[in-house]
Amino acid sequence: MRTPLAARLAGQGTTIFAEMSALALSTGSINLGQGFPDVDGPASIVEDAVNAMRAGRNQYAPGWGVPELRRAVADHQRRFYGLDFDPDSEVLVTTGATEAIAASLLALVDPGDEVVVLEPYYDSYVACIAMAGGQRVPITLRAPDFRLDLDRLRTAVTPRTKLMLINSPHNPTGTVLNDEELSAIAQLAVERDLIVVTDEVYEHITFDGLSHRPLATYDGMRERTLTISSGGKTFSLTGWKVGWAVGPADLVRATMTAKQFLTYTSAAPLQPAIAAALTMADDYFRDFAASLQAKRDRLAAGLEPLGFKVFKPQGTYFLTTDIRPLGYDDGIDFCLGLPERTGVVAIPHSVFYDDKEAGKPLVRWAFCKQDAVIDAAIERLATLVR
Ligand SMILES: Cc1ncc(COP(=O)(O)O)c(C=O)c1O
Repeated sequence: MRTPLAARLAGQGTTIFAEMSALALSTGSINLGQGFPDVDGPASIVEDAVNAMRAGRNQYAPGWGVPELRRAVADHQRRFYGLDFDPDSEVLVTTGATEAIAASLLALVDPGDEVVVLEPYYDSYVACIAMAGGQRVPITLRAPDFRLDLDRLRTAVTPRTKLMLINSPHNPTGTVLNDEELSAIAQLAVERDLIVVTDEVYEHITFDGLSHRPLATYDGMRERTLTISSGGKTFSLTGWKVGWAVGPADLVRATMTAKQFLTYTSAAPLQPAIAAALTMADDYFRDFAASLQAKRDRLAAGLEPLGFKVFKPQGTYFLTTDIRPLGYDDGIDFCLGLPERTGVVAIPHSVFYDDKEAGKPLVRWAFCKQDAVIDAAIERLATLVR
């Protein structure tokens, strides 16, 4: 029989996260691979969802999302970034940011269109560009500083470029794009009349006094930017998959055109709970980022003495290391052997690159875990150098 998988999905087998999480389970390892917190977000949010279920909000929600969540998302964009969006025509609720990414790419990219995308990439970008029939054009963020190469950015855009897909704070490098980088992207987008899709799921996870600034706040960008985020990371409820896309009505309507045939509508009782969560006081957002910064520092302080070269992230849940000082040079081999040898799971960077060499010696560790879990992982990893 011929291979059943369509050619455009060739090479998009099981995600590395599923593979490594299965390995974590079968070896009883501590999973610092997949980025999910091991403590749920605020109990009041969970209570709100339970109450919504008990109150009978269990049938299909409106396709665009329940009105209170669309309002809350618009209020959130105004409160944190000074951006005004109409909740009725410029906000779309999706099943996680993942669906917003898929729906927007399927809606906006035609076969043959080029999509400029930061590499290393979050894995769904590659698959969704492929499903849309687009061509990805990577811009590599390279160690040690993982900054955006502005010359490469300019040469990456061609007459066939339809959109730029940007992620900041960036998974897996932890880069938070700075004003110079964001301005360059904005200037180019305006000059070449490009659409920009930005994945901002880590918008509230930035460290050392840095803050996230959405691309939509730059001159000429509000009308060409679709901003994607979700409640999963911000409220430590990654399993809920309540996300959204915000932007000018034409981009949001186009995204809805695809979304309606993917899921039609997203989890009804979870939406009012995330709406309430978005109105939480500033303290919540501040304390949340501070607690993750402390975890970043805890993991870094544990890995450095073992010989790892640590690249401290400016944001996100993830810390990257170079494994070469320990005598290894291939992250894939290192990560495949790690659970058996030490009982810890991590993710090799190279799976996120077309330029495999750029990511080969790099390994990603998730630190959104309880302190005791981070400490136990360090303890186990110490056997590497004993
Ligand atoms: C960059 C990035 N985008 C999107 C997602 C997925 O978000 P959601 O769980 O809301 O679908 C993740 C999750 O790890 C991510 O790291």
